Amino acid sequence: MPIRETYAVSTAAAERYETQKVAAIFRPLAEGTLRRLAPAPGQRIIDIACGTGIVARLVAGMIAPAGRVVGVDLNPAMIAVARRQPVTGRVIPEYREADAAALPFDAAAFDLAICQQGLQFFPDRRAALAEMARVLVPRGRLAFSIWSGVPPFFAALGESVGRHLGAEAAARCVAPFARPDPAFLHADLRAVGFAGIAETEIELIRVMAPAERCVPAELLASPLAETVSSAPPQALAAIVAEMEAAMAPFATAAGLAVPQAALLVTADRQ
Ligand SMILES: C[S@@+](CC[C@H](N)C(=O)[O-])C[C@H]1O[C@@H](n2cnc3c(N)ncnc32)[C@H](O)[C@@H]1O
Repeated sequence: MPIRETYAVSTAAAERYETQKVAAIFRPLAEGTLRRLAPAPGQRIIDIACGTGIVARLVAGMIAPAGRVVGVDLNPAMIAVARRQPVTGRVIPEYREADAAALPFDAAAFDLAICQQGLQFFPDRRAALAEMARVLVPRGRLAFSIWSGVPPFFAALGESVGRHLGAEAAARCVAPFARPDPAFLHADLRAVGFAGIAETEIELIRVMAPAERCVPAELLASPLAETVSSAPPQALAAIVAEMEAAMAPFATAAGLAVPQAALLVTADRQ
């Protein structure tokens, strides 16, 4: 039976997610996304599948001194870590634990809905998009990102994980990079009331420590944390050794710099 990845992580893994993955890629992606969206001061913004809240924190600084930012995530560990992050400025993000397919907000409560790397985990994508449409004002904007494909680091990691931790672990390792068929995605958007659909590629460089440090850190910051922690230590050592070899083309003086691209999709609520 195919696995259904929801990106569930423990509190320890959510803390590592913030220090490892947000620093390496989710913060640069949030910065690139928000530069393109240029939210206006005073807007009301919802960050859906907010994780540890990187988009919510950055956008709060852009709309100050007025406006509202709410982050929503299914996973209580992500929300707990989001609430602990330091925030400065006049707009303080609020966080709510909720499913993207059942948002606990009135209709037309927000001007902009952002979903950074969450859509690929929703079991009923159209239901989640319908909720995004419902909570947006007419002519409100939706922006979500998904990965453009499996980047070189995770292609190699998935293969190595498969050899040492099994096929299911390998599938979970690359699940975040599943890319929906654009025709179905656009059909879902139109069906729930979005138009003016546009797509932009955001090219990033994932900057990480050398493989011996970043490979364990990446795995322990992911839904594979428990699988890795309970595996024999030789398995992780073998994965690290294989990744050192596979990532040699991306080595820098400080560690690794690996390309990774995202697709940013925007649409207007009718
Ligand atoms: C890869 S993380 C991205 C988090 C955040 N947007 C960021 O950029 O760091 C995916 C997030 O989707 C959340 N998620 C998965 N399914 C969800 C659902 N049905 N409703 C809300 N959040 C969900 C997970 O809990 C996880 O925090």
